[in-house]
Amino acid sequence: MKYPWVQSERVGCSRRAFLLGATGFAAAMSPIGSAAGAGIYDAPAALATMPGLKDHASAKGILFGTAIAPTKNNLSLSDPAYGSALVTECNVFVAENAMKWGSLEATRGALTFGGADAVATFAERSGAKLRGHTLLWHQNVPGWVEPALGSGGAEAVIRKHIAEVVGRYKGRVHSWDVVNEGVGDAPVARADGLRTTPFLNALGPTYFDIAFDAAHQADPDAVLTYNDYNLEHGAPYNATKRNNVLRLLEGLRKRNVPVQALGVQAHLHTGEMFVERDYARFLNDIAQLGLKIFVTELDVDDRGAPMDVSARDAQCADLVRAFLDVTLAQKACTAVLTWGIADKISWLNLPPQPLRSDGATHRPTVLDDDLKRKPMWQAIARSLLAAAAR
Ligand code: XIL
Repeated sequence: MKYPWVQSERVGCSRRAFLLGATGFAAAMSPIGSAAGAGIYDAPAALATMPGLKDHASAKGILFGTAIAPTKNNLSLSDPAYGSALVTECNVFVAENAMKWGSLEATRGALTFGGADAVATFAERSGAKLRGHTLLWHQNVPGWVEPALGSGGAEAVIRKHIAEVVGRYKGRVHSWDVVNEGVGDAPVARADGLRTTPFLNALGPTYFDIAFDAAHQADPDAVLTYNDYNLEHGAPYNATKRNNVLRLLEGLRKRNVPVQALGVQAHLHTGEMFVERDYARFLNDIAQLGLKIFVTELDVDDRGAPMDVSARDAQCADLVRAFLDVTLAQKACTAVLTWGIADKISWLNLPPQPLRSDGATHRPTVLDDDLKRKPMWQAIARSLLAAAAR
């Protein structure tokens, strides 16, 4: 086995398929470069002239995109180089924080849609689709919400919030993350694995039913998504979480709750094993429920990789390649989004996320600090092309 952190039970594409690049697109615009194969990546200059990741995704018939903020770390959507990189690479955008409850309604009844509107407008002006993130999450909940939920009016509070937010963007949103991270991490206190949140405390598990119903009423065309993390890797706690998420989604489908997709956040870690067979089986189980699958927040925490930049970039890229090869082999997967397009604005490089012990900054995304394409960019391009050729 070439890359010990990837347990390769089954490689999602034949090496030959992606070397040959069976489509005309692949032949004309192959990102494969001089040396095909995992672990070997081209220099930024060679990658610079290749078409964007959205074009590679289109060859496979899916969307590619990223999370954006109106301004982050002094980088604003109106910055010409950043804006141009976003539009070149992406045909779907999601607000990193601007559509979270705490960003929209810090004070009860005083709705502030400035940041959310800026993200929606940027997506629309770019001809891209917009994902909505997120309606109910245990983080970024305004301080007034928990007491309001506790005073007996929980369902009305949740329905009002969802009607207001989903209603504002009705007809403009490709998909909404209706509940985010509603399943706990091991060891979980409850037998059903659900995370103890203010919503669960107030309403029990029916808060899922209420939230999805409210979102469906407000925008019947948006693909309603359950979004979560720790589903990807091979450790036992990942297996437990996959199982609990599957049980949650099975229950929702049985009760005819309008959940239509699973968002696999895909915050990957170089220090953790990726077991292709377990993850592929999970995706298959999800697809069997009739759900679509979106990769919603792809990035790599590289604390398990050496400081040396090229070794580190290659490990991150290889992990992303292995992960995407399995994901894209599943036909239910119709969108891949990263959590930020450039390392300098990645949440992993900002407090309170844990930094690397050697003091180096994380290299979690597809573009470096000069917005140049990195090996991870090429890994994604190759995986998309390989999937398109299958
Ligand atoms: C993160 C943002 O990137 C940070 O800027 C913010 O401080 C905390 O939230 N899972 C999610 C995202 O669903 O909403 C989180 O975004 C990252 C983990």
